[in-house]
Amino acid sequence: MKTLTKTTLFIGTIFLFLLGCNTSENKKNNATTDTAFHAKVDSLMGLMTLQEKVGQMVMYSGSGAITGPTVNTNFRTYIKEANVGAMLNVYSAKATRDLQKLAVEETRLGIPLLFGYDVIHGFKTIFPINLGLAASWDLDDIEKGSRIAAEEASAVGIHWTFAPMVDIARDPRWGRISEGMGEDVYLASKITKAYVRGFQGDDLSKTNTILACAKHFVGYGAAQAGRDYHTVNMGEEELRNVYLPPFKAAVDEGVETFMTAFNEINGVPATANTYIFKDILRDEWGFNGFVVTDYTAINELVDHGFAKDEKHATKLAIEAGIDQDMMSSANRLYLEELVNEGEVDVELVNEACRRILLAKFKLGLFDDPYKYCDEQREKETIYKPEFLEAARHSAAISSVLLKNDDKALPLTSEKTIALIGPLAKDKENILGNWGAAGDRRGKAISVHQGIQEYVNDAKINYAKGCEIEGDDESGFNEAINVAKKSDIVVMVMGEDYDMSGEAASRTNIKIPGSQTKLIKRIREAVPNKKIVLVLMNGRPLDLSEEDTLADAILETWFPGTMGGNGVADVLFGKHNPSGKLTVTFPRNLGQVPIYYNMKNTGRPIPANNPKEDYKSNYLDVPNTPLYPFGHGLSYTTFEYSNFKLSAETTGFSDTLTAMATITNTGDYDGHEVVQLYVHDKVGSITRPVKELKGFEKIFLKKGESKTVSFDLSVEDLKFYNSEMKFTVEPGEFEIAIKGTSDFDFEHAFTLE
Ligand code: NOJ
Repeated sequence: MKTLTKTTLFIGTIFLFLLGCNTSENKKNNATTDTAFHAKVDSLMGLMTLQEKVGQMVMYSGSGAITGPTVNTNFRTYIKEANVGAMLNVYSAKATRDLQKLAVEETRLGIPLLFGYDVIHGFKTIFPINLGLAASWDLDDIEKGSRIAAEEASAVGIHWTFAPMVDIARDPRWGRISEGMGEDVYLASKITKAYVRGFQGDDLSKTNTILACAKHFVGYGAAQAGRDYHTVNMGEEELRNVYLPPFKAAVDEGVETFMTAFNEINGVPATANTYIFKDILRDEWGFNGFVVTDYTAINELVDHGFAKDEKHATKLAIEAGIDQDMMSSANRLYLEELVNEGEVDVELVNEACRRILLAKFKLGLFDDPYKYCDEQREKETIYKPEFLEAARHSAAISSVLLKNDDKALPLTSEKTIALIGPLAKDKENILGNWGAAGDRRGKAISVHQGIQEYVNDAKINYAKGCEIEGDDESGFNEAINVAKKSDIVVMVMGEDYDMSGEAASRTNIKIPGSQTKLIKRIREAVPNKKIVLVLMNGRPLDLSEEDTLADAILETWFPGTMGGNGVADVLFGKHNPSGKLTVTFPRNLGQVPIYYNMKNTGRPIPANNPKEDYKSNYLDVPNTPLYPFGHGLSYTTFEYSNFKLSAETTGFSDTLTAMATITNTGDYDGHEVVQLYVHDKVGSITRPVKELKGFEKIFLKKGESKTVSFDLSVEDLKFYNSEMKFTVEPGEFEIAIKGTSDFDFEHAFTLE
């Protein structure tokens, strides 16, 4: 508190009381227009000093999940001085109330703090990692999961999640591929919207809704060589057609905040990038929420070689349209001074402060700053049985059956099982990275426990066999013996949870340690027994070797708190697997980047002679991946027939309908993700060989058929053309409805 007098304190308190009094209006949030909030923000700002405004633009971290170097522990003092607008990594009704009290009761204007946290795939009840959730292709389930995450997080004082991460990612070396939705633009945009709806709900003033944050703007997933934080160079065409659309989808869905990316893009670090934040985000898209930096990203402008010192970095960031500084201390230390020196226009501070206050008004924090700090609600909300049940279901529908020779799966409870592998009894890694507040040891259900629900203990022969990493083989013999005395072998293997996520890039995407060697030994020891490989990992792996060793491979990602149950439900056929990959699994790392919607080249490989010389191929492996985007098996089989188009020629204002009949031709009821693909054959900018343009997840009883239809309008065929105009071009398009991206087109239509 700088120049606090009793009178100003009194005026401020009365004023804030009046702002807050309008409770019933704020509760009816849908009816309350942003305009009403703007008036309140303006009145409040009329009372604020420059220093207090800058204070709103500062965020500090408590001691939770810290992801960077600068841990400034003076935050209590700064809060009391009105130098902090938001905190991250502080949660529990009690802890947030305690800090909120400092802001509300010990500062001149009593402006409440915002509490942010990385609620990425659940808060206490942990859902599968995001790449896994995406593989469910179930938008309702993803929305429900993020709704549950918001319920739990809001019950412990959190107002704001730093999610969803909507970065398109096509490089499995990059550890953060696990946090996104995969490689496809269309699917990622749909999933982005589902997350935003789930977190923010329909009314931000409710106590169970939280602000969402689209991150990391932009291009973070395209880091060179898959190394985290690394340089990004990309043309405008790729930026607009691939990396921007999921962010645009977030804006269209009403996301309230954005986070900057750590990377530079075409020579300008994102955190100081006027083009992406001002020209695109604000001016083109009309985003009027606020932008926070990533952790210490303002300071990092100096290391990027873009700012000469931190003061200069502060000026560059605010001039690029960045509103709040996460952990750099830059705004707190330099912004007021920069304005006083005439180096930064005070209007920029006003705009930033206005946007941050607006979010606080929308949340209703001026009505009741402690509305999220209810200890009773906290107790009642965390780990509700229905949340755990939902997490179990998500784990089941996220699992992808990559192969299943000779019907190795499902398992039956009559057979004895050799349960082997470092992740079979694991209750820690199973939560994946960003386990938020999930209890890593206590609460999670291991695959072993999940299997115990189906099989009598006497029928489970367990041996760990080896660790996740390292070359120790001392457990091999025990594992081999266990395999010998059992009917079927189930091996639960993969990565450690922190081998993916932030700062967890790998140059080797094979299963680590001696795990594959153990599979080989067991294959040799029991050549005629079925081996089922259950995988937990945060990225596409090179599974070429395992593919030749195992009869069945079930990719479960890191399936979360109820992972063991969800995975067992799939293994025993209670849930017929229905997940499909949203990211390509290469044959080896040398194929990377490899994704289904690539371009054709001038020398594509001939179908009948893929090895032809002077064509775009490799000498050693085929161009095709091991498991393509959209791939995922079921215990049943689906047949696609009767493809039809409503017209072969369509006009610019027409709607074209494509349909196909899908029949369950196997022995089990099951879900199928029906996918619509289009290929724009000629463009003023070359178009990908295939593009997903629609999907529907359907349920078919065995023997049942359904006709699935998709409507296409020109809006669905638009792209940024050679003049960077979002438009559609006439010409021929190929089209197909399939259950995977791995097919050749047989049908076409013309747009004229
Ligand atoms: C750094 C990460 O890049 C970002 O995604 C996260 O939200 C922040 N740290 C806060 O923890």
